[in-house]
Amino acid sequence: MDNVKVKEKADIETILFDDDRSSLIIIDQTQLPNETKYLHLTSQLQIWEAIYELKVRGAPAIGIAAAYGTYLGVKFSAADDYDSFYDEFIKVKKYLASARPTAVNLFWALDRMESCVKKNKEKAIAEIKQALLNEADGIKAEDIWVCKSIGEYGLTLIKPNDGILTHCNAGRLATAKYGTALAPIYLGHESGYNFKVFVDETRPLLQGARLTAYELNEAGIDVTLICDNMAATVMKNDWVQAIFVGCDRVAANGDAANKIGTSAIAILAESYGIPFYICAPTSTIDMNCGTGKDIQIEERMPEEVTEKWYAKRMAPVGIKVFNPAFDVTDARFITAIITEYGIARPPFKKSLREIFACKKTD
Ligand code: MRU
Repeated sequence: MDNVKVKEKADIETILFDDDRSSLIIIDQTQLPNETKYLHLTSQLQIWEAIYELKVRGAPAIGIAAAYGTYLGVKFSAADDYDSFYDEFIKVKKYLASARPTAVNLFWALDRMESCVKKNKEKAIAEIKQALLNEADGIKAEDIWVCKSIGEYGLTLIKPNDGILTHCNAGRLATAKYGTALAPIYLGHESGYNFKVFVDETRPLLQGARLTAYELNEAGIDVTLICDNMAATVMKNDWVQAIFVGCDRVAANGDAANKIGTSAIAILAESYGIPFYICAPTSTIDMNCGTGKDIQIEERMPEEVTEKWYAKRMAPVGIKVFNPAFDVTDARFITAIITEYGIARPPFKKSLREIFACKKTD
């Protein structure tokens, strides 16, 4: 990618859009924590690649990046009638939708951009383009208040000095600001709550070690990194009073897909009597998806398991590898789902419907 800038200091701004330069500016998350490199993405191709390669990642951030991607994809369209403009838009939309399959925020954001095109059908093409930019800006702005609200609800479930375990990265780097699972931690930290946060390193791509440990540390929060297989030990030692994780898609019955390894933590949490909370904006809840069985789980390259991060290969050449990027935590292991409209508790079929009813009257 061209036009790469390197910043000295990690002032975490995950996604910025510069319309004058037709450029989506992201931190390249594959380079963290060693380097804070900003990438300027100027086409839907570059945005697709950034999402696919996890340069930008985390369900809400993927949705925001894709929304800007549709705008960039048609910004210089020469179409002068609505039908040909719409056809071009749909091509861009379909292309971006193919980047990753699990996080529903991607499809949610793309559908929202399509509705924006349709709503503005009667307008001039230049005005439709402007409406698309406004919509993408709106998706990003909304994500900030959504995460803050999740943080405020989440904070009511914990108390000062609590130990909190989290998995993967559902923080600032995964959203426009605050994060989802990390939002209660950031808000509590501002009020002097003095949490002790345990972060699973999150094999195989190490989002916990590289990203969560990094951003919490930068914020001055007490954070301890553990390997994934140490979670039972910190729970048994009574060091964890609550678990907060993010999510890529919640089904209507409360089953929740998140980073691989999440389900095992939930099962352990039940065994040790520790509350297990899923933090999910309503844009992550897919009421069209009946249960977790309907969620498509991304499978990634074997190299992520066998050699990535190692100085030399750590498995026999040609060994069979199973590398699902996500797993589904069964609703029965989830204490509550924290959304921007409130806290949903079991039975989730009913409580999630109530959350969406609040959203409608908002
Ligand atoms: O593969 P990733 O890094 O995109 O996976 C991210 C997660 O699993 C997050 O927990 C989830 O997207 C929520 S981000 C607020």
